[in-house]
Amino acid sequence: MLFKKNTKYQNRKNVIVVDKENNDVITESFNRLKDNILFFNADNKIKVIQISSSTACEGKTTVISNLAVTLASNGLKVLLVEGDLRSPRVHRPFNLDNELGIYDYMIQNKKFEEIVKHTSYNVDVITRGDKISNPSAVISSLKFRNLIDTAKETYDYVLIDCPPVLDISDYIHICALTDGALFCVAYGQTKKHQVKEAINLLKQTQINILGTVYTMVDTKENGYYTSGHYSNYYLKNKE
Ligand SMILES: Nc1ncnc2c1ncn2[C@@H]1O[C@H](COP(=O)(O)OP(=O)(O)O)[C@@H](O)[C@H]1O
Ligand SMILES: [Mg+2]
Repeated sequence: MLFKKNTKYQNRKNVIVVDKENNDVITESFNRLKDNILFFNADNKIKVIQISSSTACEGKTTVISNLAVTLASNGLKVLLVEGDLRSPRVHRPFNLDNELGIYDYMIQNKKFEEIVKHTSYNVDVITRGDKISNPSAVISSLKFRNLIDTAKETYDYVLIDCPPVLDISDYIHICALTDGALFCVAYGQTKKHQVKEAINLLKQTQINILGTVYTMVDTKENGYYTSGHYSNYYLKNKE
């Protein structure tokens, strides 16, 4: 799917851009992404989905947050979990503070229910909380796995926002916890060889790459000026 460059994002913050009251092209794009996931997942085998990309600033946090809101608008119970423990961002689109989160669960022995934050979008969010000095050890720990397992009992979908594959090797541990990955590519920004390398690394973990989302597409420049520019999203089975 192509998400064109849009002025709604220009404040450089992560924002919720979908609006179920106003079915504009962005909302429609996220609906399409949601419908593809629901169709692809008719047997409900996919519960935990991560979003990855080759490099930073490709739109991962923006896409996964808006997808979470879109799934929740469909009546599904959705939890969004911070998986980027070095540069946590999932609190931003929901205007949450980053206090009380994974740090408190892991280090202060807070319970799962105590760290889940509820939002007006009907999306629940687990933020990172305080700085974690050993992110890889946390993300690969049995305790973090237990957190995701607990989430799976309560929610229809557990979405994990991830750090960039080429920068940080945490993807190896996150892939072991999820049922599939969405791969985000910033159009005209990420180099082909970077995409190739990141996809290869992800494939080595045996993760099921569900599909690719293109963000920041300059629709005029790329000749996608007609309504067709939102339809190139695909979901597919592992090859
Ligand atoms: N489709 C888009 N068009 C223009 N800017 C975007 C788009 N998607 C995200 N952005 C902006 O780009 C920046 C990086 O997005 P973000 O979602 O934080 O990326 P990542 O999580 O991959 O680092 C943010 O300032 C965001 O508002
Ligand atoms: Mg991010």
